[in-house]
Amino acid sequence: MYINKIKLENFRNYEKEEIEFDKNVNIIYGDNAQGKTNILEAIFICSLGKSFRTNKEKELINKEKDYSKIEMLSSKEDRNVKINCELEEKKKFYINEIPAKKTSDILGKNYIVLFTPEDITILKNEPSKRRRFLNIMISQLRPMYVHLLNQYNKTIEQRNIYLKQIKYESRPIENLEVWNEQLVRLGQKIYEYRKEFIEKINEKIYDIHLKTTENKEKISVKYISNIRK
Ligand SMILES: Nc1ncnc2c1ncn2[C@@H]1O[C@H](COP(=O)(O)OP(=O)(O)O)[C@@H](O)[C@H]1O
Ligand SMILES: [Mg+2]
Repeated sequence: MYINKIKLENFRNYEKEEIEFDKNVNIIYGDNAQGKTNILEAIFICSLGKSFRTNKEKELINKEKDYSKIEMLSSKEDRNVKINCELEEKKKFYINEIPAKKTSDILGKNYIVLFTPEDITILKNEPSKRRRFLNIMISQLRPMYVHLLNQYNKTIEQRNIYLKQIKYESRPIENLEVWNEQLVRLGQKIYEYRKEFIEKINEKIYDIHLKTTENKEKISVKYISNIRK
């Protein structure tokens, strides 16, 4: 799969821009604050539905304008994919001209990996950074995973509402079990996907790291979760 072209309209510092990419490696260079990362951000949005830098979509729209558009063309196994993103009051996506029902419909159309200096936080910072990394990777490969994550988050929300009701409205504590069971069921499935992904990564990185360190270092990753089987 490769990205052929990206068209930007009122996106960040770009008013109108069309960028064509080579099939192989592309190097984008320039002075600071010229818009290099903005290009990567546009690609990220067309692949994953949201930015890696902000949750506030308004920031993506050029300050002088009130809407923005991104178009990304890519080829996968000789098939062309066109993703359009419209940012206005709401964010809208189109896959080959057809409106996407939900943002997650665009996942898996383009596989991308973003690697930035901040990625060191995957190792340094709290577990939520590692979970986020896993979520981004697995979501592209497994549509079911996105669905599970959404369900899991909704269940947490509902459980929290119920916890408040127990405290303030004297609802029976026994019923909490319903939410707990749901969380365990969904959490277990999420765990399985993550474990599978880490095992696959493990197979790949071992050889790569051995080669890059001239056979000096052996690397492995393990998924350590609180869930015990
Ligand atoms: N909403 C916006 N409207 C106009 N310009 C913006 C907007 N958001 C960011 N910029 C501009 O984009 C530039 C930063 O782009 P960026 O891609 O991060 O730079 P770099 O080339 O250093 O990676 C800055 O000049 C900033 O002012
Ligand atoms: Mg940058």
